[in-house]
Amino acid sequence: MTAPGTSALFAECELTATQFARITRLLHDHAGIRMREGKEGLVRARLTKRLRKLGLSDFDAYLTFVEQEPSRREFAEMIDALTTNKTSFLREATHFDFLRDAVFPHLDGPVRIWSAGCSSGEEPYTLAMLCQETFGGSSARDVKILATDISHRVLATAKAGVYPVDGMQDVPAAWLQKYWAKRSEATGRAVYEAQPALRRLVHFAKLNLMEQWPMRGPFDAILCRNVMIYFDKATQQQLVERYWALLRPGGHLFVGHSESLTGLTHRFRYVQPAVYVK
Ligand SMILES: C[S@@+](CC[C@H](N)C(=O)[O-])C[C@H]1O[C@@H](n2cnc3c(N)ncnc32)[C@H](O)[C@@H]1O
Repeated sequence: MTAPGTSALFAECELTATQFARITRLLHDHAGIRMREGKEGLVRARLTKRLRKLGLSDFDAYLTFVEQEPSRREFAEMIDALTTNKTSFLREATHFDFLRDAVFPHLDGPVRIWSAGCSSGEEPYTLAMLCQETFGGSSARDVKILATDISHRVLATAKAGVYPVDGMQDVPAAWLQKYWAKRSEATGRAVYEAQPALRRLVHFAKLNLMEQWPMRGPFDAILCRNVMIYFDKATQQQLVERYWALLRPGGHLFVGHSESLTGLTHRFRYVQPAVYVK
């Protein structure tokens, strides 16, 4: 039986140019995300699943729901459906080598790092393992890694800290042994679970980078990798200025290797691909 308002022809639900424009405006105004023309097919395919789930018959009804729902939960679901959360442990590994060899040796106080757009947690847990390797041990240092994302769904995975074994091939065996517990889930699937030595270093929180930021910094390093690629130039410009303000002098900004600050006005000094220093 179908819910009221649903249609048997639902799969053919149309996305008009006006509806597409309304979606791109919402994405841009509330999340800074730029959705290019030509993505209509992708938007229709991905959001049709949301319409189906909510029992709505067309995109006008869906957009009214997204705009009026006070908790903004469906807006977050919409962003989730339209962006990629692709990430992995030790992704773009030269950044972690750089932190270990060129940043960490010069830190002598508390260590503060922000993973902005952390997705399902692989990036901040990688940072946590690196920090444990460098600063752990008997004279353990005060290390805090803030990890934020706009998406509830990825943050739930990140907080759970449980990953399938085949997602962890890039993690060195010695680190797996020290910081992860292997177990079988009820389904028989083998997983690794983050141990307290990692969990206590990382604080996960929901944060839309377009909104107010509650933290004051200063940070020793900010990683905003493979996130700004979704944003238009004006939004990138604002973000880079806000990152500058939250970094301590000598603090580092890391962006994704397919991103750069080229074309933006900023005061950072370029260090190596996708690494900048204040
Ligand atoms: C491709 S993932 C990058 C993950 C990780 N930084 C990496 O490089 O592996 C991009 C993440 O940015 C998040 N994101 C997109 N727009 C955002 C916004 N306005 N505020 C906060 N996070 C956002 C997405 O939810 C997604 O998890």
